[in-house]
Amino acid sequence: MNTMNKHVMDEAIGETRLDRGTQGVIGKGAPRYEGKLKVSGTAPYAYEYLAGEDVAYGFIVPASIAKGTIRSVDATKAEAVPGVLTVISGDRIVRAASQPMAPAAQTIDGEVFHYNQPVAVVIADRFETARHAAKLVKVDYDAKEGRFDIAARTTVREPASMPMEPNQTRGDFESAFAKAEIQYDQTFTTPSYQAAAMEPHATTAKWDGERLTVWTSHQLLETAPGQLSKHTGVDADKITVHSPYIGGGFGSKLGLGPDAVMACLGTIATGKPVKIALTRQNVFQATSRRGETVQRVRIGVTKAGKITCFAHETDTTNSPGNGFFEPSGISSVFLYPGEDRIVSHNIVETDVLMASACRAPGEATGMLATEGALDEIAEQLGLDPVEFRRMNEPEVNPQTDTPFSSRRLIDCIEEGARRFGWSDRPKTPGSRREGEWLIGMGMASASRKNDLMESSAEIEMSPDGRATVRTGMTDIGTGTYTILQQIAAEMLGLPLDMVDVELGDSRFAPSSGSGGSWGANSAGSSVYVASLALIRELASRIDADAETLTLKDGHAISGNRQIPFADILKGEAISVTGKIEPGKQAEETHQASYGAHFCEVAVNVVTGETRIRRLLTVGAAGRILNEKTATSQCYGGQIWGIGYALEEDLVIDKRNGLIVNHDLAEYHVPVHADVPQLDVVLLEDRDPHASPLAGKGIGELAIAGVGAAITNAIYNACGVRIRDYPATLDKIL
Ligand code: MOS
Repeated sequence: MNTMNKHVMDEAIGETRLDRGTQGVIGKGAPRYEGKLKVSGTAPYAYEYLAGEDVAYGFIVPASIAKGTIRSVDATKAEAVPGVLTVISGDRIVRAASQPMAPAAQTIDGEVFHYNQPVAVVIADRFETARHAAKLVKVDYDAKEGRFDIAARTTVREPASMPMEPNQTRGDFESAFAKAEIQYDQTFTTPSYQAAAMEPHATTAKWDGERLTVWTSHQLLETAPGQLSKHTGVDADKITVHSPYIGGGFGSKLGLGPDAVMACLGTIATGKPVKIALTRQNVFQATSRRGETVQRVRIGVTKAGKITCFAHETDTTNSPGNGFFEPSGISSVFLYPGEDRIVSHNIVETDVLMASACRAPGEATGMLATEGALDEIAEQLGLDPVEFRRMNEPEVNPQTDTPFSSRRLIDCIEEGARRFGWSDRPKTPGSRREGEWLIGMGMASASRKNDLMESSAEIEMSPDGRATVRTGMTDIGTGTYTILQQIAAEMLGLPLDMVDVELGDSRFAPSSGSGGSWGANSAGSSVYVASLALIRELASRIDADAETLTLKDGHAISGNRQIPFADILKGEAISVTGKIEPGKQAEETHQASYGAHFCEVAVNVVTGETRIRRLLTVGAAGRILNEKTATSQCYGGQIWGIGYALEEDLVIDKRNGLIVNHDLAEYHVPVHADVPQLDVVLLEDRDPHASPLAGKGIGELAIAGVGAAITNAIYNACGVRIRDYPATLDKIL
């Protein structure tokens, strides 16, 4: 039997059944469900499926111009290479080169819209053969003049309303700013960035003449069969997509990569299963990137330190037809007060690889600017940055006047200051020196908007009382398997090892997928709702009241009766499906997770290099579902922040649009020597408006603001203000 239970969030406020759990596993740092598989090399990535089968391999031919049209593709020489099965080119490949996720990505057939855009794919019996033959494909172009520099502002246009409303204003900022006692007006720039997940975008695809089976590294399964259907002409219901284990995504795998489409076209054309793994250079040049920004921050403040008006105006880039924009002002809408406000975004069109979602789209770049600005203003006012933030804590969302669902920003700041020893901060830049190192401390706020997404999950209880959770959710390394296991175990009164979790199959109940920090909370809520249905079903079979029924160690306890699940099930499996719908809570309350970062740096007076000595993040994100995986997410965010503060810079050649540093040798990310002991503290928190779990998103919280805590510490150490990221040695000296 299968029953369906649906919860709309508005009806679920105050639900606390999870707090009545008897297993004591929710929130605990339970070890990773798939940990043993991962460390023993038996959790296969997309490229590793069909091992031992007779498969073919694909290799991409990239465009050698940034803008223009393809005049002709001559594959004669490539096709003559022994072992080459086919060379596919033409509009199908050009369309595949634009990730289908990009909203209304306006790919014009036959057009080249960025350097190294895939224009053909060679399918051969061996990888080496495909790679060799790809170099023999001759493509002729009519090249056109391209636009590669954000500062040139050649074409400026309005973004789409995704992932936020691009323009949110209130009152009359210009007049208020003109009257302000203190007028802060500075411009910050952030470069383009790459996500560079350890597992490259990769696909194994198999066409059996009727059905297409696809293993691909992908964050969001629900829309994948439909997208592949458009590209291949195969009906969506004849396409199955598997993505059970993923070596990182960070937004770059929200859309299907060109590998997925090309592997499908390849297997249909050749009748053999086809594998395509993007090379690291392909990942950098043919997936998506984070757009560079120019951000003007204007803040009006009274001499006493009250913010009266706030403006954050961002230019960011994207390619023609793409409406997505890096929403740098996303936190500026609600983080700080001011009656008169502007948050705005423009897209400067460039003929460069599409800009799309990258970990904490918006906050990750915007708070590099605004948290630096707050530090500068506090300095100017002679106020401690902690005190300045305490003085400017709004009671409601200053843009909309809606209440915050829960907001522990000041608690995070105060707890962080206490633990870090903030009162020992050098009072003036350059005043603390150890040999040739200047020492400084800096801090910044963190916030990340919270979303609850529609999501569903099935739970099947087998006659022996084991539970299996099945959902089309993914685990991109964030801990989804473990968290869903914990929720089901706690709700159903089962030990962890009596709950199995199956993810990453497009035939399972459709899920929110992993993105935007909503995964654990949304998919977890669907498991919660399914668990409620299962509890009701068990209760009805023993004539007990579901509300008061206690489930513990595989038994249902009602009054003085204690019945093993196996005795209730009587040999029959039960299957239930739960679905969470967000309802109106996100409009009626303003939801975000909050935090604070504290950093100590040493800056070398001879070389200008910065060493991070200590980094502490305090976060409050509703109920923490797994302390270990949540903390690990924060470590990841802190390390990205180190990269953004000091190293990362995706260099686009302004003459020809080439992404120059297209691998991990040239694109510098933090290595162990750059990362000190990291400290993360998660405050006790509950947000009953955010989800039935009372949790909020945490995956992208710690990256927000952390880079500014580092550059603020650099200023405190040596007196150099960084507004042009990253803080490389030349800017410090
Ligand atoms: Mo995230 S950048 O929405 O995967």
